[in-house]
Amino acid sequence: MADRYLSFTGTAPGRFLTRRLGLPQPTALHRWSAEHPSFTGELLHLSAGKSPLDGPDGLAAVLARTGLAVRARSERPVAVVLDATGVTDIDTLAEVHAALHPVVRSVARSGRVIVLGAPLDTADHHQAAVQQALEGFVRSLGKEIGRGITVTLLRLTDANAAESTLRFLLSPKSAYVSGQVIGIGGAEVTAPADWALPLAGRTALVTGAARGIGEAVAATLARDGARVVCLDVPGAAVELESVAGRLGGTALALDITAPDAGARILAALPSDGLDVLVHNAGITRDRRLVNMAAERWSPVLDVNLASVLRTTDALLSAGGLRTGGRIVATASIAGLAGNAGQTNYAASKAGVAGLVRALAPTAAAEHGITVNAVAPGFIETKMTAAVPLFIREAGRRMNSLGQGGLPVDVAETTAWLAHPASGGVNGQVVRVCGQSLLGA
Ligand SMILES: NC(=O)c1ccc[n+]([C@@H]2O[C@H](COP(=O)([O-])OP(=O)(O)OC[C@H]3O[C@@H](n4cnc5c(N)ncnc54)[C@H](O)[C@@H]3O)[C@@H](O)[C@H]2O)c1
Repeated sequence: MADRYLSFTGTAPGRFLTRRLGLPQPTALHRWSAEHPSFTGELLHLSAGKSPLDGPDGLAAVLARTGLAVRARSERPVAVVLDATGVTDIDTLAEVHAALHPVVRSVARSGRVIVLGAPLDTADHHQAAVQQALEGFVRSLGKEIGRGITVTLLRLTDANAAESTLRFLLSPKSAYVSGQVIGIGGAEVTAPADWALPLAGRTALVTGAARGIGEAVAATLARDGARVVCLDVPGAAVELESVAGRLGGTALALDITAPDAGARILAALPSDGLDVLVHNAGITRDRRLVNMAAERWSPVLDVNLASVLRTTDALLSAGGLRTGGRIVATASIAGLAGNAGQTNYAASKAGVAGLVRALAPTAAAEHGITVNAVAPGFIETKMTAAVPLFIREAGRRMNSLGQGGLPVDVAETTAWLAHPASGGVNGQVVRVCGQSLLGA
């Protein structure tokens, strides 16, 4: 269902009227399109403290490769990258304020503010305090900056391991990711031969691909060069065939809760196995716990969590996922924040986050496979179109960007996590929610 309010505020009379009434003014976000695949303009590179990322092959070299014009001063930057990895005490923390205070107003609409921080694993409690302080700073700036600008904190030690992440965040692909703290390990990464086709020669399986977010994920991975295997229930076979056909992929009509689902997926894969596994299929059966019969509890846990555990285990134990593979599961902000009427759904989605946290280190150590999750907020799909009008309208507006996300926003985030150069991103649950006020 279209967001008519966003369309209305995009017109001159709509803007005039809603301003006069003091109503929210969401900005139409700049998203990826084949005609406008990247931002153009200036990237303002600032720093606070003495950065360990400086050096000939350090952060400056990575930023220069994004295609933006990197400057130490800019009147109208499309993005600001503030390197705060060298913030170790109250005085260097004050440099964060001093650097950003004069420039926040000049950032272009739908632009980016990215703060780089150090990992929190220091024993120095002064450094730990001021590095943690960056989280409150970033989340607050995200809530107040407006004009469709997103604000993100990246914790890193190696700028090269963060290149795929910086490219994602410094592009229109990350339009609906804001208020997030993302940690990047120091993995060995190899740049793809072609950054526009990072998944060329790779195979991806997407569950729940007949419509909604899953369809967008399959399309985005195919755009990035992957051969896609699209899986959905037999009842959606017609839509599934149409999606797979359009993307030059294959359709696998299968209920993911079937006990032999893992074996049937393995049988349908090419002999060289799978590179990217996206657990997207999901259902809701909402009721408050007091009214929730077991018939509403079990299917939600089965589709959203048990089948994710079963198929992951089946593929990992049979070697169905190749070395360097990527698992991306779908959580939800409801699982992180809790939501009335969704004890079943939130339990299943919080469970996905638990699976990611526990499996990520071992999968990386044993198979070179990363395990992450996306946690969508309010995304415009058939699932949310079924939500009653008042709750739907609240869901759309209760975030820093004042609008719902689109399936493609979750898909782009999934594609970044699936990227061969994203090996340093592991065990993360990244919210795609426009910095929803729920569980923020
Ligand atoms: N839309 C949102 O706002 C939102 C928010 C948070 C999380 N999510 C999650 O994102 C994922 C996709 O959501 P969506 O909005 O696109 O939903 P959707 O209902 O539009 O699509 C879900 C797809 O999963 C398929 N599916 C369901 N059960 C299956 C099964 N047993 N086996 C195989 N396929 C099955 C459905 O047939 C459907 O095609 C879900 O995991 C959902 O929980 C969505």
